[in-house]
Amino acid sequence: MTVTPGTRTAALASGALFEQVPALTDLDPADPYPAYSRLFGPPVEVAGGDVVILTRFADCAEMMRHPDVTLRRKDSAAFRGLSSSFLNVLDPPEHTRIRRLVNKAFSARSVELLRPWLEDQVHLLLDRTAGQQTIDVIESLAYPLPLFAICELLDIPVADRHAVMGWSRPITFGVDLLAGRRPREDQVRYRSSLRQSRLYINELAAQRRRSPGDDLLTRLISTDDAGDRLTEREVTATAIGLLITGHETTVSLIGHGAIALAQHPKLRGPVAADESAADAFVEEILRYDSPVQATLRVAARDLTVGGVDVQAGTALLLLLGAANRDPEQFADPDRLAVDRPNNRTHLAFGGGAHFCLGASLGRLEAKIALAALAARLVNPRARLDGVRYDKSVMLRTQTRLEIDVDGLLPRKAPGSR
Ligand code: HEM
Repeated sequence: MTVTPGTRTAALASGALFEQVPALTDLDPADPYPAYSRLFGPPVEVAGGDVVILTRFADCAEMMRHPDVTLRRKDSAAFRGLSSSFLNVLDPPEHTRIRRLVNKAFSARSVELLRPWLEDQVHLLLDRTAGQQTIDVIESLAYPLPLFAICELLDIPVADRHAVMGWSRPITFGVDLLAGRRPREDQVRYRSSLRQSRLYINELAAQRRRSPGDDLLTRLISTDDAGDRLTEREVTATAIGLLITGHETTVSLIGHGAIALAQHPKLRGPVAADESAADAFVEEILRYDSPVQATLRVAARDLTVGGVDVQAGTALLLLLGAANRDPEQFADPDRLAVDRPNNRTHLAFGGGAHFCLGASLGRLEAKIALAALAARLVNPRARLDGVRYDKSVMLRTQTRLEIDVDGLLPRKAPGSR
């Protein structure tokens, strides 16, 4: 049996389905883990069976690779607004085609080439906090850095970057599962940010068509795969999509890393001085406090997961944040352990065909930012009353994160770790 339009898909499309799920609406964004523990186990049917919540690592990993599971997010009102041409709303064969083209344009090499710029940018942002006794790590570093990094890749003029930064958060929150419960102003801001970003990127892409540069936007326009190219609409959708998916996710990772560095002084020396220690630290933070806490799929046919029969059309809510603390996969999962042998098996970047396209960029940004914080902040102490989370169920993002410091050391000469 395949999915047919009906009340269930309509409720899924409007997001109303999730508003009936207390496990989601009551979630404490500052600490969702006790609620996950209560839910943890075989798949749980909620909303009269229209939604199935998955918490176990094996169940989530299986559903992200299952041939009878679809994204179908292009049916949802919010995602339709974002674009029906962006990668993480598409199923094959459209997804396969666009992903191949975007992968060619957004190469590992282009990310690695950004490294010196990232290092300079991180230190520049940190230098601006000199003299402060309390630093809001989100405002001063974690929020601007990833957005400016994608702007740099796309070669968005520096003068326009603050405007672009203003569009990102309203769009991210506008596509959350519970977006319908947000105040009306947020929904208005979402629509206007989307409209302005589309106009802006369309205009910039038109300029790059007339006068190509050496940047990601030009490559998205010109990448050719056996005569196939991205259409104008696909270029715009991809550029906006990268700005959005690559922003708040990385904010969250840097934020959680900063909290952990403040709470675990012994980690600071190795993270500051040794690149492989910084890599291991970033991986464990991704597992321990995953930026993307939940993602959505829909069963395209009747299927069985974790011993539970699921009907076609049922929404599958994959709680990646819970799966990454599954004791079957990670021993003593509530402990931050940088020497965990298998922490790279986490699902923080998803899995299967939709595995995060920007994983290497996110990892590199976080590593550079956290190594600099570890090296330069003197005696950092995270203020528990100074952390604020947004009320999203998909993203675990801080909107404020205050750290008290006794000073800021100068940047070491580049190259000397
Ligand atoms: C540390 C930061 C990041 C985390 C934790 C993260 C997490 C994820 C996850 C979990 C998915 C899969 C969603 C699903 O299957 O439903 C995903 C997809 C994606 N991510 Fe990331 N992401 C991060 C950074 C980035 C960056 C920096 C970019 C680009 C600039 C990016 C671009 C994308 C894109 C384009 C997709 C969709 C891929 C597809 O559907 O084929 N992400 N990300």
